[in-house]
Amino acid sequence: MQIAVGSDHAGVQLKHHVIAFLAAEGYEPIDCGTYSEDSVDYPDIAEIVAHEVLQKKILGILVCGTGIGISVAANKIPGIRAALCNDMFSARLAREHNDANIVAIGSRITGSGLAEEIIKTFIKTDFSAGRHQKRVEKITALENKYRERV
Ligand code: RB5
Repeated sequence: MQIAVGSDHAGVQLKHHVIAFLAAEGYEPIDCGTYSEDSVDYPDIAEIVAHEVLQKKILGILVCGTGIGISVAANKIPGIRAALCNDMFSARLAREHNDANIVAIGSRITGSGLAEEIIKTFIKTDFSAGRHQKRVEKITALENKYRERV
């Protein structure tokens, strides 16, 4: 199972940890950068991971200092539902209720051990559909409604 992983410079140490963790768990992480602590702009990384997620229909993981900027940026891309999760309860409901396809984590907030648990929960939880289906469809409808407007 492939998983796209990306971070800005603030999240790069946690991203290295996450990639090693995913590989040890038998997943196939796709490293979308960044690769050093040289400063980069989180929207650029969000776009690379979002592209992989949409094209390969896989899950993604994004890390920046707070997880906020990189998730906001990813959520501008139609088809992406990026959930900022700094706890396991959010990670589970992000999948069950929101069919999130990216989990975002704040490296300045969440330690590596908790990040592992959040990611494990996110990956292993399925979308519940049912009553949540039409709500997620309404998110897609909003994307379509505002696609051409500025
Ligand atoms: C980078 O300094 C920082 O602004 C970024 O990692 C993130 O926290 C933005 O939301």
